[in-house]
Parts: sequence; C-alpha cells; structure tokens
Amino acid sequence: MNRLTCWLSGAALIGLLLPPLVSGAEDCTDLDAIDQQPAVDYENSIQPIFDNQCLACHGPGGQAGLDLSPGASHDNLVKVASSQDATWLRVTPSSLQDSLLFLKVNCNDPPVGSRMPPGGAMADGNQALIRDWIVQGALPEADLLFQDRFEN
Ligand code: HEC
Repeated sequence: MNRLTCWLSGAALIGLLLPPLVSGAEDCTDLDAIDQQPAVDYENSIQPIFDNQCLACHGPGGQAGLDLSPGASHDNLVKVASSQDATWLRVTPSSLQDSLLFLKVNCNDPPVGSRMPPGGAMADGNQALIRDWIVQGALPEADLLFQDRFEN
C-alpha cells in the first residue's frame, strides 16, 4: 500500500466510524419538523397524554413519587425536584434542557433513569406538545392573552 492509498483508506475508515458516534451521542427524537402549537392548554392537551400513557404507573403514590393524575400532576411537575436526583427539576418553565420530564420522553438516554413511557417512545406529536407547553412557560392553563395576540 503506498502512502496515498493508505491515507485514503484511513480517511474512509474515519468516515465510516464518525456518523454513528455523532448520532449516538444525541439519541433524542428530532422534533424540529413539528411546528410549535400556540398557547398549549395543560388540561386539554397535556393531561390527556398522562391519562392515557402514564397513570398506570404514576397515579397517587406512583413510581418515583410522581403523581400525574388530573388535578395533581401540574403541582407534581413544575419546579419540583426529581425524587431520584435532586440536582434536576422535573420541569423548569421555558427550559427544555433543564426539564427532566422532557428529556425522559424525548431521549433514549436521559440523565436520570430511562425513557418514558417504558414500553416505547410516545408519538412525536405528543412529545412536541410537551415541548411547546414547557417553552411557553409550563402554565397551568393556556395563556389566552398570548393566544389572542397570536390569532389577531
Ligand atoms: C410501566 C410503568 C411506567 C409508566 C407507564 C410510566 N412510567 Fe415514568 N417511571 C417509572 C419508573 C419505574 C420510574 C423510575 C425510574 C426512571 O426514572 O426511569 C419512572 C420515573 C419517571 C420520571 C422521573 C421522576 C423523578 O422524580 O425522578 C418521570 C418524569 C416520568 N417517569 C414520567 C413519565 C411519563 C410522562 C409517563 C407517560 C408518558 C410515564 N412516566 C410512564 C415507571 C413508569
């Protein structure tokens, strides 16, 4: 093998190895193609996701001390520390990267525990609704003033 073919095969090998390493480091569902929904309403858009996919394990006294039942879930999430790692908040209003809830529904390798729900990732559209709700301030109900501004 001369110097050029040696260099070429080396470059090809690096080319083969790099893409899996880069994508493996992220391991989150890409939601960029899903537009933000304006003024996401917690009771009508977020709570039903929990009712359908989470309550089996996260009712009163549920797994990891997390109660996602109607009427209790918002108080159990927003600005509440993870029961497993108090350096994390379950939801930090307006910050996806500081919201364990979002990282656990969006990523295969979240910073605490495993992806939720355990049986497999939730639909991308539902992950995006949770994203939008957090980005919009994780409010207990839709910000109707914001919605008016958006629609007018
Ligand atoms: C089959 C049971 C099961 C289901 C269904 C389930 N979880 Fe979990 N959940 C767990 C267990 C067990 C843990 C603790 C281990 C971990 O964090 O992976 C946990 C932990 C969590 C935590 C971390 C709480 C903390 O304080 O550290 C969040 C957030 C969470 N789940 C959200 C959800 C959401 C949202 C859903 C529905 C989309 C869901 N889970 C569905 C079993 C479940």
